[in-house]
Amino acid sequence: MISDFPPRKAFGDDERDAIDEVSTYYRYHDADPGYNGIFQDQFEKDLANFYGKGEAVAVNSGTNALYIALCALSLKEGREVIVSPVTDSGTVHAILAANLVPVVADAAPGSYNTNLEQVRDCTTDQTAAVMLVHTAGEPVAETAAIAEMCKNAAIPLVEDVSQAMGAHIDGRFVGSYGTLAAGSMMYRKNLQCGGSGGFVYSTDPDLIRRVMAHRDRGKQTWRTDINQNDPGTGLFPALNHNFNEWESAIASASLKRLKKTNLDRLMFLYALHEKMQDAKCGSLLHGFHTGYAPFYIPVWSPFQDKVGFAKALKAKGIPLLEHYGCVVADWLHVEKHINWLPNHSYSEGAVPWASRSPNARTTRDSTFNLFLNENYDIWHVRRIVQAIKDTETEMEARGAARRK
Ligand SMILES: Cc1ncc(COP(=O)(O)O)c(C=O)c1O
Repeated sequence: MISDFPPRKAFGDDERDAIDEVSTYYRYHDADPGYNGIFQDQFEKDLANFYGKGEAVAVNSGTNALYIALCALSLKEGREVIVSPVTDSGTVHAILAANLVPVVADAAPGSYNTNLEQVRDCTTDQTAAVMLVHTAGEPVAETAAIAEMCKNAAIPLVEDVSQAMGAHIDGRFVGSYGTLAAGSMMYRKNLQCGGSGGFVYSTDPDLIRRVMAHRDRGKQTWRTDINQNDPGTGLFPALNHNFNEWESAIASASLKRLKKTNLDRLMFLYALHEKMQDAKCGSLLHGFHTGYAPFYIPVWSPFQDKVGFAKALKAKGIPLLEHYGCVVADWLHVEKHINWLPNHSYSEGAVPWASRSPNARTTRDSTFNLFLNENYDIWHVRRIVQAIKDTETEMEARGAARRK
C-alpha cells in the first residue's frame, strides 16, 4: 500500500547545503576531509551552545557514546549500573562492553519511563552508576529527584537522551541533569546526522578530556604540544570511535531545526489528542509532558487484543508498531548478564520471568507505538481518528473483549 502519510525528509535542503559546504571547503583548500575537523568542531560547539554551557564530543554511534561515557567514569569492573527498563539494546550492550553489570529498574506505573522509587529500589553498595533513558522523547518526570539522589550517594548519573533531544522539564533540557549525557544521532532520531552518529556531553572538563581520549585510542587530542601520531603519548588503551566532517555538518543543520521539529510534532499530538476526545475514541494517547520531544507516542488500546487492534489500524495505512520489542526484560541474549536483584520490592530471590519489569510490560502489552513526524498535519489527525473510530466499531461488532 502506498502511504498517504508524508515521509520525514530529515535530509532536507539545509542538510544538502551543509554537505555542499563541506565539499566546497575541502576542494577549495585542496585537503581531504578527516576527523576532528572544522565542521566537527563547529557541531560540538553548536551542541554545547544548545545546552548553554559545557562541552560536547561527537562520536560514531549512540551505542559507542554511552560506552565511552561509562569508560570515562572509570568505574570498577563488575560493579552495577542501574538502567531504565525500556530502551534500545545499545544502552544495555554499552554497559556490558564496559565490563559492568546492568540492573534493570522497572518503569513507573502506566509508563515506559522509570522513576525515583524504582531507581532507589535497585540501589545497593554495588551501584556504580545510573543510566537513565528518556524513552520515546518523554522526559523522565523525576529526573531532578533522581539526580539529587545520585549526587547525595556520589553515584554518577548518565542520561541517555537518544530519543529525547530537546525534551525538557520546566525549560531545562534533559541531558543537563546528569554527570554526563550521551545520545544517538542515527538518521531516524529527532536530532540526526545522516547515517550513524552520537555524542557525549558534560559540564565537567576533566570528564570531557577522558571522553575525548576514549573516543580516539587513548589519545590526548586536545593537546597541541605532543605528536598526535605517536601512540606512545596515549593515556590508556581505547578503541577508535571517531566521527567525520560530513555527518557533523548534517548534524549542525539538524540541530538548527530541532526546536521546530519537536514543536511541530507536539502540535500534531495536541490536535490528535483533542480530536480523539471530540470523537469519543476508546483509544487513549499516552499522557505526555509539556516538555515532550515526541519520537513516537504510545497509544493505549481499548481492547485486550491490542496487537489485533493495532494490526487492523495498520491495515488501514496508519504507520505504527504493534508490539514494542525494547523491553529489556524480554531479551534472552542479555538475560544471564543482568543482575535481577533480589532486593527489588517486587522480586524475591530467583524471580519468575514474568515478574521482571512488570510495569514496563503492562505498558507495552496495553499499547502500540504510533509513529509521527514533523510533516503530519490536521489532515493526518483526521485520518488517524477516523481509522481508530472505524476499527473500534469493527472490533465492538465482533465482540472483542475490552481491556480492564
Ligand atoms: C534510547 C537509545 N539508546 C541507545 C541507542 C543506540 O544508538 P545507536 O543506534 O546510534 O547506536 C538508541 C537508538 O538507536 C536509542 O534509541
